[in-house]
Amino acid sequence: MSMQGEKTKAMYQQATKTIPYGVSSNFRYWGPEDTMVMTKAQGPYMWDADGKRYIDYRLGFGPVILGHADEEVHAAVVEAIKDGTIFAWMTPLEIELCERVARMTGNEMVRLTNTGTEATMHALRIARAHTGREKLIKYEGAYHGMSDYYLYSTASSQARSLGSRRHPIPQVNSSGIPKGINEYVYTVPFNDVELLENLIERTWQDVAALIIEPTMGNMAGITPQPGYLEKVRELTAKYGIVLIFDEVKTGFRLANGGAQEVFNIRADMATYAKSMGNGYPVAAIAGKREIMLTLEPGAVSHGGTYVGNVVGTAAAVKVLDILETRPILAEVSQRGKRLMDGMDEILTEADIPHFMTGLPAMFGFILGTESAPQDFRAYAKGDGEMYEKIAMQAIARGVMPDSDGREPWFMCHAHDDKIVDDTLEVFKEAVYAAKK
Ligand SMILES: Cc1ncc(COP(=O)(O)O)c(C=O)c1O
Repeated sequence: MSMQGEKTKAMYQQATKTIPYGVSSNFRYWGPEDTMVMTKAQGPYMWDADGKRYIDYRLGFGPVILGHADEEVHAAVVEAIKDGTIFAWMTPLEIELCERVARMTGNEMVRLTNTGTEATMHALRIARAHTGREKLIKYEGAYHGMSDYYLYSTASSQARSLGSRRHPIPQVNSSGIPKGINEYVYTVPFNDVELLENLIERTWQDVAALIIEPTMGNMAGITPQPGYLEKVRELTAKYGIVLIFDEVKTGFRLANGGAQEVFNIRADMATYAKSMGNGYPVAAIAGKREIMLTLEPGAVSHGGTYVGNVVGTAAAVKVLDILETRPILAEVSQRGKRLMDGMDEILTEADIPHFMTGLPAMFGFILGTESAPQDFRAYAKGDGEMYEKIAMQAIARGVMPDSDGREPWFMCHAHDDKIVDDTLEVFKEAVYAAKK
């Protein structure tokens, strides 16, 4: 059964004539029958080109933290752009935004960028410039955007091709990446202190940065084992490796201070994007003063025509103002917890082995196992097929998570208690329909 109604199908087919595979991002391609065209989103809902309404749990892959089309954020943008959108100079809004990011996250200095990809790409350059080293440690299953250095052993790689746990093979996930890049990347399974210690002790002289998503936002939200992040912090500090927290998904979502606040760990650098703009494109690189000051003009490159543009900056100032002055994220978490617990109960009653993962603002579940998967290799042994069946049954009934269990269920403030109840009702039907 296709997800597309008649109008959606016609528009999608029109799209394929000019846009490769009919999508602007490969992550939005679900095949010729199920790739969707959306025309409207408001609060917790999204509507497709046929007018079918969905409670949205993809939320644009995470950015929407307040709710779709938030009126206060829109109004702040409209007011600001009356005076122009771009000047190739600093603006007071940029100063306000960077001060807010610093205050809320505890980072000392902040530079703006437009997307998560740009933020992580620049963070790596800064770390290299700061340390004089060139290599990078990243986790299997983690995604840090589209730049060549990070597209190794992401969650779309086949777990079997990653080599042994003790000696992982960084698995490139796209054609078009020069072979030589391989030499700069070490990959390691999440949550394994011994393997990380071995790797760092062998390689630290060459390693500029270790980048980590403190909860794995591209791997069903798998969380760090108690003490793991502390060990990562200890080892990177001991060996002079810049610790980058990629908070593109966790930032301004798990807490105002992101994962650094939740886990009480201070990284050397952090990257922010998604929730910062509630759907407007804006991002940031933040970190310790000493490291951020590596960005000396003429010495280390960072820039961009649209960096600090008024649209994204005005939106982010408003979003952060709302988050800082109201208990938004606490409420998002409470409702997320109700949804998570309700889903857990439904899966238990349906006798489906599962493990709930992640934190309430960004959670997932892994099927076919009752023990906690700690890394991508364990995640990949789960029953992805059954997960997809349940997701597709939910989507058919108007509740839209991603069909791929690696992508968490994202909560936003517009998911109120009634929406949680509606979702649980649909989820229950979806689970039993998928079981048949
Ligand atoms: C953890 C993480 N880092 C970086 C990125 C890249 O961000 P963007 O899509 O804004 O380039 C993503 C995107 O999903 C992400 O999840």
